[in-house]
Amino acid sequence: MEHAVELREVRRTYGKGDAAVHALRGVDLALPRQSFTAVMGPSGSGKSTFLQCAAGLDRPTSGAVLLGGQDITGLGENQLTRLRRSRVGFVFQSFNLLPSLTVQQNVLLPQRLAGRRPDRARAAAVLASVGLEGHGRRRPGQLSGGQQQRVAIARALVTEPEVVFADEPTGALDTGTARDVLGLLRRAVDAMGATVVMVTHDPVAASYADRVLFLADGALAGQLTSPDPTAIADRMVALTARGGSLGAAA
Ligand SMILES: Nc1ncnc2c1ncn2[C@@H]1O[C@H](COP(=O)(O)OP(=O)(O)O)[C@@H](O)[C@H]1O
Ligand SMILES: [Mg+2]
Repeated sequence: MEHAVELREVRRTYGKGDAAVHALRGVDLALPRQSFTAVMGPSGSGKSTFLQCAAGLDRPTSGAVLLGGQDITGLGENQLTRLRRSRVGFVFQSFNLLPSLTVQQNVLLPQRLAGRRPDRARAAAVLASVGLEGHGRRRPGQLSGGQQQRVAIARALVTEPEVVFADEPTGALDTGTARDVLGLLRRAVDAMGATVVMVTHDPVAASYADRVLFLADGALAGQLTSPDPTAIADRMVALTARGGSLGAAA
């Protein structure tokens, strides 16, 4: 079966010789289409490196990344840029909206960058699907944090990408607003057919996913399917104790 994302023996080493840091030490995984995956692990375990390699933002030192069945490892810079604009979506902790553009213009930005004709009806429909009907003419600064993250999700979904990558999407939101945003990501998968990969350190956030992957020291260290927050938290405590580091897994 063709997967939305596949990693084969992916390694990513920063630096050389004695100074080399092995951020990913041979990660193998395959994520089905229309699935919601959470990625957790202690600080420094390789979560951000994983997301960047899987999304075509960074190149593995060795191994292969496949997106929609296509090996993207050998693509040139221009091809990778095009891929990032049309075939993957991104949601960041800090929203990353352009403050001088309207909500609608922000949502249409990926289409513009991909050289497509901006489809206002499509933007309006996606905004309605994230509960922001009628907000298209406002500026991001006129919206709450939760609403801004909804705009960012609409922007990530507008090109119907093969995968949406989210790095701590609820990290800047209060608990109630975070739940709304997680419910929205869940619905994007169930009702809109999206595939979502989300890095988080919050066990409740991770429990919205179909599957939680745990990273430790650059390698997969287990997974939970249909996870509940308590089981996730227990696993995180065990991993953090094993790694000997204390504190939040950022
Ligand atoms: N650009 C970089 N140069 C050197 N080392 C890096 C770089 N980015 C990340 N690392 C190292 O790689 C390891 C994994 O980092 P990262 O993927 O950011 O982990 P996480 O997101 O789980 O905290 C860490 O030891 C980190 O210090
Ligand atoms: Mg990180």
